[in-house]
Amino acid sequence: MCGIVGYIGNKNTKGILIEGLKELEYRGYDSAGIAVLQDDKLEVFKAVGKIKNLEEKVLQNTTCCVTPNEMSTGIGHTRWATHGKPTEFNAHPHLGIYSYVVHNGIIENYKELKEELTHAGHIFVSQTDTEVIVHLFEFYFNQSNDAQKAFDETIKRLEGAYSILLITKSEPHKIFFMKHGSPLAVAKGNDDGEIYFASSDAPLIGLANDVVYLEDGVSGVASVGNIEFSDEVKWTTLPQNKLFAQKDGYRFFMEKEIYEQKDVVIDTMMGRLKNDEINFDELDKSIIEGINEIKICACGTSYHAGLTASYLFERLSKIRCTVEIASEFRYKEPLLSKDTLFIVISQSGETADTLEALKMAKNAGLKSIAVCNVDNSSMTRVADATILLRAGIEKGVASTKAFSTQTVVLWMMALYFGKTRNVLSTEKLKTELQTLKNVPNSLKVESQLHEKCRRLSKRYLHGHGFFFIGRDVFYPLALEGALKLKEISYLHAEGYPAGEMKHGPIALADPELFTIALMPQHLHYDKIKSNVEELSARDSTICAISPISFELSDDFILTAETNHYMLEFFEMLVVLQLFSMEISVRLGNDVDMPRNLAKSVTVE
Ligand code: G6P
Repeated sequence: MCGIVGYIGNKNTKGILIEGLKELEYRGYDSAGIAVLQDDKLEVFKAVGKIKNLEEKVLQNTTCCVTPNEMSTGIGHTRWATHGKPTEFNAHPHLGIYSYVVHNGIIENYKELKEELTHAGHIFVSQTDTEVIVHLFEFYFNQSNDAQKAFDETIKRLEGAYSILLITKSEPHKIFFMKHGSPLAVAKGNDDGEIYFASSDAPLIGLANDVVYLEDGVSGVASVGNIEFSDEVKWTTLPQNKLFAQKDGYRFFMEKEIYEQKDVVIDTMMGRLKNDEINFDELDKSIIEGINEIKICACGTSYHAGLTASYLFERLSKIRCTVEIASEFRYKEPLLSKDTLFIVISQSGETADTLEALKMAKNAGLKSIAVCNVDNSSMTRVADATILLRAGIEKGVASTKAFSTQTVVLWMMALYFGKTRNVLSTEKLKTELQTLKNVPNSLKVESQLHEKCRRLSKRYLHGHGFFFIGRDVFYPLALEGALKLKEISYLHAEGYPAGEMKHGPIALADPELFTIALMPQHLHYDKIKSNVEELSARDSTICAISPISFELSDDFILTAETNHYMLEFFEMLVVLQLFSMEISVRLGNDVDMPRNLAKSVTVE
């Protein structure tokens, strides 16, 4: 996810901004940039790739804002591409004629604003949503000659999520700021009057002590020794441990990533989920023309998202959908026909087996889509179209937020295709869209739920195996729950379709066989209940996860009452992730970097 830094003071502003951006590298990015302003001298540097590329450019071309004792203002940014490729044009800061802006988040109404501003004579050079902010500011400034007023007018027009820093030659000693949705902090520096901005703590540690974590809707303006806020704010003391700060205070990156799922899915849906329709700028409606089948190919967790989607594509888009593990697909001499749409799913976009499968489909003349988290990765370059997850970098080897965002994207695609093919009633679409909007709520980690998983975990550290069972989409979810446990606890676990247990695995049932039963209220509850009863009758130890209490279970995790099985799906996903993590913690394993595993597998 993108990162922001800002500085006002009389030190080496460029150096401070670059060091600040380095502290944000752990969040992932594909380009970076800074802009500095000293009186009427304005300089900007941007580079694709690593921050050291930016640093080299700065060192070679600097004319101002490096010598101490000269006041200057500066803003910097690391970009994780969401609208438009990772290029220098698309990198922040974005320029108008005399102002620069950096932005985290997504401007949902950027298209309308861009059209309006283009009519008014503004010229755009990037494909980003961000560029509208600086043009809007200059549009209003040109009318009023008042920077504060122009900034206020600008933020009133923006819809979506945004944290913004803006500098302008019209007020060279100030930084205008706004926070809405994405995080932004402002801090008083340790030296006289200097002020720092950052989108998370790490760049501030060691340079400042007092910080304000801005609340949504708070804007303001800062100049040396002075910060004006639009609302009351609370000053607190900065933590001093950098690694702790990088993990946003969580114990592990995996934990942080589980907790942030509720936020990243909002980015995933933003601009794509309108009031009564789904919109994918990335897809041409013709992509589904003449298509009679969807084939999904992926590995690991991404494969489980694909399997979940296969139920949704058949149910909501009425298209036959098959899913294959990429390493199997490659060598089975698959029969491919051109009326099949080929979808690859990958967090990294680099997994060798999935990439090769995609190339095979391309060579056979199939239309293809990559559902991917990393723009400009190999798969996005090969596929005809790419839908980005917008999950931000995922550091924990055990994938969490990639799975939830993949599932959301694929569910939206199923609705989009269903509507395009005229097989989904307006009424049904409306209900599904309403449900999608409630997903962030279902992904929210309630503290009692986490505590319950933590306490229960102590009973599941041994035994001769785990069966995670579910039906329908809860079967791939069971597979994913079992994979999480295997990856980080090293305990043997299998995911199984609940109805299939009686055809063999039930022979293993005894008190040392742990069954984790996914029992949603709104999808085949009675069927799964009888499957679990069969296991209970054979003395398997049962941990049931359900909103309906179940007297035959040994342990029970109560989930919230909802009105749709997909909301139950996301809450149960969180339970399974937390459960595995807490078992791994108790076993003393390395949660973020489990043995023998790699985050991105680029070999066969
Ligand atoms: C590796 C990772 C898994 C991941 C799989 C597919 O095995 O450890 O967490 O699910 O690769 O990766 P992808 O980047 O293609 O989603």
